[in-house]
Amino acid sequence: MVIESSVDYILSRTKLAPRVAVVLGSGLGAFADELTDSTDVHYSDIPGWPPCTCIDHAGKLVFGKLEDLDVVVMAGRSHLYEGYTPAQVTMGVRVLHQLGVQSMVMTNAAGGINLAYSQGALVLISDHINLQGSNPLIGVNDDSFGPRFPDMTEAYSASYRAIAHEVARELEIELAEGVYAAVTGPSYETPAEIRYLRTIGADLVGMSTVPEVIVANHMGMRVLAISCVTNMAAGVLPQKIVHLEVLETGRRVQNTLVRFLKGVLPRL
Ligand code: HPA
Repeated sequence: MVIESSVDYILSRTKLAPRVAVVLGSGLGAFADELTDSTDVHYSDIPGWPPCTCIDHAGKLVFGKLEDLDVVVMAGRSHLYEGYTPAQVTMGVRVLHQLGVQSMVMTNAAGGINLAYSQGALVLISDHINLQGSNPLIGVNDDSFGPRFPDMTEAYSASYRAIAHEVARELEIELAEGVYAAVTGPSYETPAEIRYLRTIGADLVGMSTVPEVIVANHMGMRVLAISCVTNMAAGVLPQKIVHLEVLETGRRVQNTLVRFLKGVLPRL
């Protein structure tokens, strides 16, 4: 199976056995540079790993150390809008679990729907609304991964969220909390769609993360997820959404995100 050959290849490349993984979203790649004694494993070298087509994603796993802690970073993820299947989009999480990862920290770029947010805000995801029209668990259930009907009442670990708020307070980093609506993209939303999303209880909108979170929960992993509000969602401000500006905002706040991640990871 594809997962086994990926795992075998990765094990041939690193001796580290991290319990914690960090997935870095668009424009948020800087954290990977914080790891010491690091080994890069490029997706293109891993058997069966979907190649990364995104312009601002590095496309590699980085195994390394954050002081004493072994960490693996997924620098770049695949998305449904690239044409990948939900199984391909979530394969990385399956592989990481097989390698021993129990805690997933996801980051992403998101549009801010909640009017209390501003561009550049960091928001802890408390829950999600899956509007991608698919679920990565559709199909025959592999009982060795998890149950047919996994519970999602605490998809984003309450204890991890408490830790995240504590760390943010200590580091004097402003950290809001909100509900993330996942859409497929790749077109950004219309203003009418954003009004709809606000009405149904979404604070953020993005095109990633939810498939991985579902699969992580299926396997009993604990999840912490942080959105960077790279732009206010369509129609909130009298201006268009430009992808390069989305990436630019990510780059602008990633130093804060790096400080936050360095504080939070050893406590998970
Ligand atoms: N919509 C959807 N996904 C996004 C956005 C947005 O406004 N910004 C960054 N990712």
